[in-house]
Amino acid sequence: MKIVIENDYASLSLRAAEIIKAQVNGKPESVLGFATGSTPIGTYCELVKMYNANDVDFSKVVTFNLDEYYKIKKTDKQSYYHYMQTHLYRHVKFKETHIQDGEAADHAAECIAYEEEIASHGGIDLQILGIGVEGHIGFNESGDEFIAATHHVKLDESTIKENSRFFENENDVPKYALTMGIKTIFSAKKILLLANGANKAEILQKTVHGAITPKNPSSILQLHPDVTIITDREAGKLLV
Ligand code: PGA
Repeated sequence: MKIVIENDYASLSLRAAEIIKAQVNGKPESVLGFATGSTPIGTYCELVKMYNANDVDFSKVVTFNLDEYYKIKKTDKQSYYHYMQTHLYRHVKFKETHIQDGEAADHAAECIAYEEEIASHGGIDLQILGIGVEGHIGFNESGDEFIAATHHVKLDESTIKENSRFFENENDVPKYALTMGIKTIFSAKKILLLANGANKAEILQKTVHGAITPKNPSSILQLHPDVTIITDREAGKLLV
């Protein structure tokens, strides 16, 4: 795993955006995997700036998001569909953008269709990940097994608590989600994991140096051949 420790959130965001830009400039028809949460917001902001400065062209790029709440309407301000529109898709023209349908009547069929769609585009070239304080990647929660494919998942109490900061109250946080599985994430040729802030330091140390266990889903990234972790100084403080 390649570890890059930046001074602060601004330089972390710029560094991540530079890597995405280089990927797209090197392969204009790249398939990108995107993440939500607070961490990648700065990266998306930098990508919008690069796009407006004509430094990068996303018109041939196809995107797939890691996860979406279930059930949630696209129009809900807390949906990841809405997040992606707000931070990126409203500002930047992509060829195609995909995210699991948080309103699908049949979640199992939706997950199968999502996997097929990713496969039909030849898999993901570069996947962006955040990390939860318990080690989740996407919504692959801490548990007894790694789940390979895109699946319907019951969210952990800790995730619901953590994400309640985006909602008016904790009861409004959806209890379920649809998420890429570990094999789906591993289909990416390159993975870029971003982590910011002191509360991520301990889990990052375990991600890089700890046992590979589904109790900490991020630990399995040790087995992927091309992972770069970019942190700010606080999140990376136990890695040095
Ligand atoms: P955060 O979430 O970026 O808001 O910390 C990361 C995650 O839960 O994957």
